[in-house]
Parts: sequence; C-alpha cells; structure tokens
Amino acid sequence: MPSPAVVLSVLRELVTRECSPRIPEPGLVMDDPQQVAAYVEAGREHAVMAPVYLFHGANMCEVIRPGDTVLDLACGPANQLAMVARLNPDTHFIGLDLSMPMLQQAEELITRQGLGNVSLRQGDITDLSAFASASIDAVVSTMALHHLPDVPALARTYAEVARVLKPGGGIYMVDFGHLKSRRSIDYFANQYADRQPELFTLDYLNSLHAAFYLEDIRRAAQPLLEQARLYSTFLMPFMVALKSPPRRSHDAALSAKLINMKQSLPSWHQSDFADLSTFFRMGRLSCALLR
Ligand SMILES: C[S@@+](CC[C@H](N)C(=O)[O-])C[C@H]1O[C@@H](n2cnc3c(N)ncnc32)[C@H](O)[C@@H]1O
Repeated sequence: MPSPAVVLSVLRELVTRECSPRIPEPGLVMDDPQQVAAYVEAGREHAVMAPVYLFHGANMCEVIRPGDTVLDLACGPANQLAMVARLNPDTHFIGLDLSMPMLQQAEELITRQGLGNVSLRQGDITDLSAFASASIDAVVSTMALHHLPDVPALARTYAEVARVLKPGGGIYMVDFGHLKSRRSIDYFANQYADRQPELFTLDYLNSLHAAFYLEDIRRAAQPLLEQARLYSTFLMPFMVALKSPPRRSHDAALSAKLINMKQSLPSWHQSDFADLSTFFRMGRLSCALLR
C-alpha cells in the first residue's frame, strides 16, 4: 500500500494548475568526483537505489536474449549494467558514457565482479556514429535521459537508437518524468534524505527538475513507437519507460533468481519495490519474470 504522502502527491499532481519549468541539470555530464562518489554509494547493493535497479533490471532481462549485443546508454558507474550482465552471462554488453570518472568506477566494478561480458566506451548518447546501422540487438538505459540539455537532444538520441537497432530489436529505456508541482518534486527528492548521502539528495532533486514532460518524451520517441510502447507510472508520470515486447520465452531459472533477489531486499526496499511495481502495473507495464 503506497504511503499517504505518495497518495497525496498523486492527488496534487491531478488537481494542480502548476506547471513547473524544466530546469536542465547544472552539470550535464557527471564528472565531479564527489558527485560521482555519492552516486556510486547510493547504487551499492542494498543502498537506496537497490529496488529501482532490480525492477528495471528484470524488465531489461525480458527484452534481451543470450547471444545479443546490448548497448547501455549513459551507463554511469555500471551498477545497473553489472547486475544485468551477471544475470545474462551469454549476452555481450557495451556501456557508453561521456564521463571518464564514471567509466573508471564502472571499470573497477566490472573487474571486481569478474564480468567478462561487458565492455565500456566513452561517447555521447546523442551521436552513436561509432555504431553501424542495424548492428545492436537491444538498447537499454536507466535514469539518464534527463541529463540531456533539451528536447531536440532527446529526439536525436531516440533517432540514433532507431538507427542502430536491428529490426525487431529490444528496448528498455526508463527515466523520471516531470512532475507538475514543485512540492511533489521536493517530496520525492527528500523522501529518503536520512538514508542517503546529502549530495545524492541534491542530485536527485536536480534530476527531478530536469526530467522531461511525458508529452515531450512521447513526441521525441516517435521513431521508436512502432517497436516499443511508452508506459508511465499510473496517474503521475514519476517514471516513464519505453519498452519493446518481450524477446525471450519464459526463463524459469532467471525468474527464480530475480524473485529471490526481490525477497532478499530489506523490508523498506521491498515496500518501495512494491510501490514501483504497482504504479507501473496500473500503468500497464509488468514483467513476467517477477511473477
Ligand atoms: C544519473 S546517471 C545514470 C547512470 C546509470 N544509467 C544508472 O542507472 O545508474 C546519468 C549518467 O549520464 C551520463 N551522461 C549525461 N549526458 C550524457 C551524454 N550526452 N552522453 C553520454 N552520457 C551522458 C552521465 O555522465 C552519468 O553517468
């Protein structure tokens, strides 16, 4: 059951006349060492991002297959990427990010975990010219698109994804959506301020201000809307996901691993996970691997 504060935020979003402006991230690329460190810490196993990574990781698993080459756009320190790569040892992953400090963190994590199926590249997600047309089996991305400066850059990114993807390729690209009310933005940014580094709370607040409005995402994602569908959390587009239909038949062993990971989350993470799944399920996005 979502907390009363979350329900209140939903109601506020439904009735408000406010239309908070999009404020681009102060540092578009994350290369400040302290900011990188705070983000890495928040993404560690059992830290504040754990339920979110698990939910998105499971959805990614549905759109990728063994033998695929998968491109993770703006992979950051590879917390999400490493999780999915561990679960899919026969799939090759390429993590792309502009920030060298982020890529160094990613390299360390991948080496520490002995992942032989991940390679990393420095590059801009709005220009995938390093990748040939129709050369990638699936494209994934988490919590990164709001770092782009404006809607044309977002549209360029989706157009590049459409170009590099093979026909029938997999897509799972998820990000925050823009909330209309500043109070709702403040509430979500500070929800777990006591459990996360202060710099991460500030980073989260900046991310929610920089998130794109759902309608802008829909327009920008047009070249992909035949292959994938745009979903948002119910009534309030706190998160927005572009997902293609599942590309693999049900994998009982993978599903058991994901369910076990969910059950191993501490209880407050389990309730976050349940809220995210419920709001997405009511927005028609669900993941068979989690059932
Ligand atoms: C909030 S982090 C998300 C990282 C990762 N996807 C995750 O879920 O943990 C956003 C990342 O986007 C990267 N970034 C921002 N703009 C970019 C661009 N135009 N091209 C590539 N990476 C970019 C930043 O350097 C940062 O690592």
